[in-house]
Amino acid sequence: MKLFVRTLGCAMNVKDSEHFISQLKDDYELCDSPNDADLVLINTCSVREKPVQKLFSELGALHRDMKSGAKLGVCGCTASHLGEAIIKRAPYVSFVLGARNVSLIREAVATPRFVRTSIENDETNFEFENSYSSNPYKSYINIMVGCDKKCTYCIVPHTRGDELSVPKSIILAEARKVAESGAKEICLLGQNVNNYGKRFSSEQEKIDFSDLLCELCEIKGIERIRFTSPHPLHMDDKFLEVFSTQPKICKSIHMPLQSGSTAILKAMKRGYTKEWFLNRASRLRELCGDKLSISTDIIVAFPGESDADFKDTMDVIEKVRFEQIFSFKYSPRPLTPAANMEQIEPKIASERLSHLQSRHNEILDDITNSKVGEVMSVYFDELRAGGKAAGRSDNNFAVAVKGSEELLGKVCDVRITSAQRMLLSGELA
Ligand code: 5AD
Ligand code: SF4
Repeated sequence: MKLFVRTLGCAMNVKDSEHFISQLKDDYELCDSPNDADLVLINTCSVREKPVQKLFSELGALHRDMKSGAKLGVCGCTASHLGEAIIKRAPYVSFVLGARNVSLIREAVATPRFVRTSIENDETNFEFENSYSSNPYKSYINIMVGCDKKCTYCIVPHTRGDELSVPKSIILAEARKVAESGAKEICLLGQNVNNYGKRFSSEQEKIDFSDLLCELCEIKGIERIRFTSPHPLHMDDKFLEVFSTQPKICKSIHMPLQSGSTAILKAMKRGYTKEWFLNRASRLRELCGDKLSISTDIIVAFPGESDADFKDTMDVIEKVRFEQIFSFKYSPRPLTPAANMEQIEPKIASERLSHLQSRHNEILDDITNSKVGEVMSVYFDELRAGGKAAGRSDNNFAVAVKGSEELLGKVCDVRITSAQRMLLSGELA
């Protein structure tokens, strides 16, 4: 039988979809179109309102085009959040499986009108067999589930539950399996990866994220280690030291700022100030030198954000000069305190977002132009049109060169010859 999976949202969802595929491998093979499938899974995101609003029209369209008798399952964060209501509104949906219930996919497929969305489920000890990676050259590894932070804008604690760390033995075993498969890169996943080790569901030895990184660096065959997302609050000196000195740890880090205003950060319950964030970012740049790239997430027009607060965000952008920014207008989410606060006018929100994005594009053009002439270490993992092979530099820039299959799976030095905003081009050095 054939399986089609549509994945929305973050890397955690990508990994969960990979788990679905590996759990269903005995009965289903992947296909490229929902119209050919016997089972269609849609793995949803609920972090902002729009995709949730679009879910039902999307489900309707899938249902219309699907083969008769095919099953349609709704998984992920919106499944957690809306649960049974999804089947009530779209009765052709076969099952609803929450973001913390990934291990139950086989049962869900086999049981008519199955709904399971418990956020208490402990999936940290679940060893997924026949693990599947959508990219043969690199793999995601879950190191924790859930989130203990209660950022006042965020629905995730309600969709993925409390934070629990995966035992070290399972993580190391997975990383060794990745290395044995010939893949050189792992990316550790969690909502707050550098809070790793705070709580397990069983007795485990004391360990923190920095210790875990050091142990993973020992694994032969793993040449690159990435992780997402760390929380700026937990970026202690020990973490900065390990990050900057271990050569296998890629010099690219995601530091979700959210806002540059200390007052707004307080209203968001982020737990750090503008000064702390700037201190951590500049310390990292000092320790790692100019090869480091820093990406961030920013929410504009959080309730109560004044012009002065927004200026603080712009000020951080000028000071840190992020290599990449993911920016969003605040979107009120159910079950979150900020949804009940006084909202900012949509027009102001749009103006702030476009101001931020256009200024950042200028900064990014400066940054990428300055890379011309530099030699970067690139791990090739895809072919592109026009006889090109592409991959990521250690510091996470997309880089393409003339080349074909023989480059795939190799780490090579590339001299950058030209720069576009999201893609650098070069030649093998
Ligand atoms: N509105 C807008 N953006 C949000 N994010 C999380 N919740 C919201 C919300 N209610 C953003 C944050 C987070 C990223 C994954 O999504 O920036 O880091
Ligand atoms: Fe990922 Fe958050 Fe979206 Fe869930 S709601 S898929 S955790 S981004």
